[in-house]
Amino acid sequence: MMPLLSVRGLKVTIRTDEGTAQVLDDVGLDLERGRILGVVGESGCGKSTLIRAIMGILPRAGAVERGEIWFEGENLLSFSEAELARDVRSSRIGFIPQDPLLALNPVFKVGSQLLEVMRWHAPSDGTRGSERRKRHVGRLIGLLKRLQVPDPEGALERYPHQFSGGQRQRLLIAAALACSPRLLIADEPTTALDVTTQHQILLLLRELVAELAVSLLFVTHDFGVVAELCDDLCVIYAGQTVESGPVRSILDSPAHPYTRALLACHPDRATSFRGIPGSVPSPLAPPPGCRFAPRCGDVRAICSAGNPPQARAESGAEVRCVQYSDWSADLLVRSHES
Ligand SMILES: Nc1ncnc2c1ncn2[C@@H]1O[C@H](COP(=O)(O)OP(=O)(O)O)[C@@H](O)[C@H]1O
Ligand code: SF4
Ligand SMILES: [Mg+2]
Repeated sequence: MMPLLSVRGLKVTIRTDEGTAQVLDDVGLDLERGRILGVVGESGCGKSTLIRAIMGILPRAGAVERGEIWFEGENLLSFSEAELARDVRSSRIGFIPQDPLLALNPVFKVGSQLLEVMRWHAPSDGTRGSERRKRHVGRLIGLLKRLQVPDPEGALERYPHQFSGGQRQRLLIAAALACSPRLLIADEPTTALDVTTQHQILLLLRELVAELAVSLLFVTHDFGVVAELCDDLCVIYAGQTVESGPVRSILDSPAHPYTRALLACHPDRATSFRGIPGSVPSPLAPPPGCRFAPRCGDVRAICSAGNPPQARAESGAEVRCVQYSDWSADLLVRSHES
């Protein structure tokens, strides 16, 4: 069976005053039904751009140059903006943003905002008018209860600023689930929360994914979160997928030097991120060959010769590094022959 979401060879550029930024170059991922896929990478690696491309909300200066985004058997890149807005976003794909304050309108009550989304995007159940609205209110209250929001009926009558950060994030999870989507996408939704609240929300998300039979694409820069929440993992660096596979095998035996460096920043997987020496290259001028080469402890001459192809590591993960492919040997033989 096809994965619920499959991104293949995605290349995205964004035009800027300084030139064309190669923000994503050959990103791929597979999210199986009912599973949680983590997308991890440092800030600036292209995680949010990947999500925007999937949802069809790239900035005006952005363009998908190449690739495919398959969702429930359809290539989303063939959809018009009107089709994405009407049939995909909110209805089939729910989104949990990083900053709930920016996502909620401060001048409207929470209930009216969430019910408006449901009015347009909730699947039809044969009811209309006040009966339909009553059902929507019932579903929202059920979700808020499940998300442990105190006094769910009263919560619908309050304004966003009357909730704590953790409660607002729960409201947005309810909003993302309100229209019964098949896929939830979350962009670093717990980054601004304290550790205890973050842990409670991750636990709830895990339970809800199982109960509601949705799949979750969860973007984070934090390996602690990955270990706690995810089944599968896609590590991206400078706009490229560098390692992907089941979380357990990657955490037990990380293969790509970037994954290993990221993990070394979390010695006990609970400490805060310390950082890898050096920085993510600008997408305006990515280094030739392997994009991690300027920061890689294992770098060799061949690494700058071209973009390393994906290969399979012993752990079973797909890895983009010359150490795992015959590519370097092939290239050396070919250059020797010519
Ligand atoms: N609208 C934009 N205009 C110019 N550059 C952008 C824009 N959006 C993102 N970028 C650049 O693309 C790269 C990836 O950004 P982003 O997708 O936000 O990364 P992440 O979410 O992993 O931090 C960064 O170098 C960022 O500066
Ligand atoms: S291809 Fe070379 S530079 Fe890139 S990660 Fe592998 S060893 Fe390091
Ligand atoms: Mg981001």
